[in-house]
Amino acid sequence: MPVLKNISQLACCRMEGQQGDIHTIEKAALAWESDKFAWVGGEKELPERYAHWPELDAAGRLVVPGLIDCHTHLAFGGWRAGEFEQRIGGKSYLDIARAGGGILSTVRATRQLSEEALLKRSLQFLREMGRLGITTVECKSGYGLDTKNELKLLRVYQRLAETQPLRIIPTFLGAHVVAPEYRDRREKYIELLIQEMIPQVATQGLADFCDVFLEESAFTREESKRILEAGKRHGLRPKLHADQLSDGGGAVLAAELEAASADHLECISESGIQRMAESGVVAVSLPLASIYLDQRQLPARRLIEAGVPVAVATDFNPGSAPSYDLPLALMLACNLQRMTPAEALKGATIYAALALGLEGITGSLEPGKSADFAILDAPDVNHWMYHFRPNCCVGTFIRGMQLFCEPSVSLWQEE
Ligand code: NIG
Ligand code: FE
Repeated sequence: MPVLKNISQLACCRMEGQQGDIHTIEKAALAWESDKFAWVGGEKELPERYAHWPELDAAGRLVVPGLIDCHTHLAFGGWRAGEFEQRIGGKSYLDIARAGGGILSTVRATRQLSEEALLKRSLQFLREMGRLGITTVECKSGYGLDTKNELKLLRVYQRLAETQPLRIIPTFLGAHVVAPEYRDRREKYIELLIQEMIPQVATQGLADFCDVFLEESAFTREESKRILEAGKRHGLRPKLHADQLSDGGGAVLAAELEAASADHLECISESGIQRMAESGVVAVSLPLASIYLDQRQLPARRLIEAGVPVAVATDFNPGSAPSYDLPLALMLACNLQRMTPAEALKGATIYAALALGLEGITGSLEPGKSADFAILDAPDVNHWMYHFRPNCCVGTFIRGMQLFCEPSVSLWQEE
């Protein structure tokens, strides 16, 4: 039953209000009982009953909800540094994909790795994400592209969820691209997805969401609709990689299907924005992918002004976003998409939770919510995103348990 005191600024990030409303409290304290927050407020108002609970000292730092990365492709084999160099030299992402590189080269590398090896690699990434203040990670399959290998990736996520502390939310992305064996028989691959993979994933309880890459080089709007509707029939909520390299009507489809989120959206149309606003679909901004592909950024201001909640995530993958640094993505969303630091933070907390259907569980500092939070070595949210540092997280807690503490910092007060 500990109490964290001496917080310079507490950003509660409740759902209500606009994107920029993060409900800050200066000179605050925070109390939790087993895995849930019990009390949040100004330190002077701390009720007497918490006064004798074990104390932690934030030493005048900022405290935010545990960060949520709501879009990653966490488990994969190999890397693609050569393609990074090729793109800088002028080759496009699609040129590389057409030549058999891109996603398909990661598929070859991923199929070769055992479940154990993928588990070990992913675990290392998650450890480092925990040190950045991240407590929840959405993880997509999509580098297997056959039943055996897609299930292998989702089993890696299942085992991670059971054996390490970060909260893992698995998404089935068998419709990432058409599998190489089906290059000239795409209809057969779609049948395999609908008749075999989706039912098996659902019966084995291996995913919460079904995602599709709707793009010229991947799946059409009609194909995406069929796949996501099949997922829905099996209890998998739709998500979409939409309007990334061109406007393929992905945002409108996401609205029609009442998807949990539509992600990327660099090329979203005005009608796409309107339809998303009407249907309450979360937009997921992925600034790292836009930078790595030297592409335009998501029009965050237009989405926010239309009333669409905008989440911010890394898209961590070996091709278009080889970084799991969510604080970096937040700083980029500020500078390149003109989101304020408060708007970006709401996008990596309660709106990211909304994109994962977790808004009742995590993503804000409120009594009854899971005690997931990060202590950051900055006086306030503006300063944190402005003075970008390799890592200013000094402590991460999930479900009330300390996940990480910077070794040079002592949080616990001596009796
Ligand atoms: O989100 N867009 C499709 N999927 C990834 C890229 C994956 C890859 O290049 O390996 C993305 O950007
Ligand atoms: Fe992605």
